Amino acid sequence: MLADIVEHLICPVCGDGLALGERALGCPRGHAFDLARQGYVSLLTGSQAPGTADSAAMVAARADFLGAGHFAPLADAVADACHTAPRAGKVIADAGAGTGYYLARVLDRLPYAAGIALDVSKHAARRAARAHARLGAVVADVWRPLPLRGGSVDVLLNVFAPRNGAEFARVLRRDGTLVVVTPTPRHLEPLVERLGLLSVDESKERRMAESLSGHFTETGRRTYEFPMALDRAAVEAVVGMGPSAWHTESDDIRRKITELAESSEVTASFHLSTFESRS
Ligand SMILES: C[S@@+](CC[C@H](N)C(=O)[O-])C[C@H]1O[C@@H](n2cnc3c(N)ncnc32)[C@H](O)[C@@H]1O
Ligand SMILES: [Zn+2]
Repeated sequence: MLADIVEHLICPVCGDGLALGERALGCPRGHAFDLARQGYVSLLTGSQAPGTADSAAMVAARADFLGAGHFAPLADAVADACHTAPRAGKVIADAGAGTGYYLARVLDRLPYAAGIALDVSKHAARRAARAHARLGAVVADVWRPLPLRGGSVDVLLNVFAPRNGAEFARVLRRDGTLVVVTPTPRHLEPLVERLGLLSVDESKERRMAESLSGHFTETGRRTYEFPMALDRAAVEAVVGMGPSAWHTESDDIRRKITELAESSEVTASFHLSTFESRS
């Protein structure tokens, strides 16, 4: 709930603290942000959300796919990484949290922690708000100043989502940990080729290292790989929640899915890296 995390939030207009009222979050200077009926708050200011926000359909596909447990081994690995972080601590934030699936698994393992789910998609925030009792969901853009107090976060998660090294470093405590998950080029083999999906950009890894290197030092890195048996509905969900959902040729992809066998063996393959701030 927002009550668990409001002390860590700041007003996106003036940077002052925020307090939780009956219907809105407000700062001492009178800036107010309505609470959504579904329990989240939008701290976006000015114009619209960037075009990278997941749509309602993408978020629904993601919720279906994750809910079926296909990425459960990854959720365990993320929870392990948070649990064993030098400062597992009390405040866990997730930048680009989506449905809140990973953050909820982390909170299950850390009974005294509260979770802050940040995502620019209100459809995602709506789901995240229901993902765990100790989780508060906030609509915010990773490319703008995050609405979080400096040094307020013990562990920051970032799973398949955009990274803002400077802001991540500002909101993390000095001895805090950043946990980043990215897909490897083998992720979703052989579907990528068979369906003509957008593949993982090989230069993505390098860009990630560059975007964080000025602010963070990598302290650990592991690769997780496991097979998944996916029926056609699960294949449709994994396609619908990913970058290919933006693809103009989605009709063609849908047709190819109907031609797949009843069950396909698909590889899940991720890098999980931990970083600490450079001070
Ligand atoms: C591939 S999804 C991953 C979601 C979640 N971490 C997971 O793995 O289930 C990427 C998420 O980042 C969000 N996103 C995209 N651009 C963003 C931005 N500029 N600021 C915050 N979130 C953003 C999308 O709305 C989407 O929920
Ligand atoms: Zn204010």
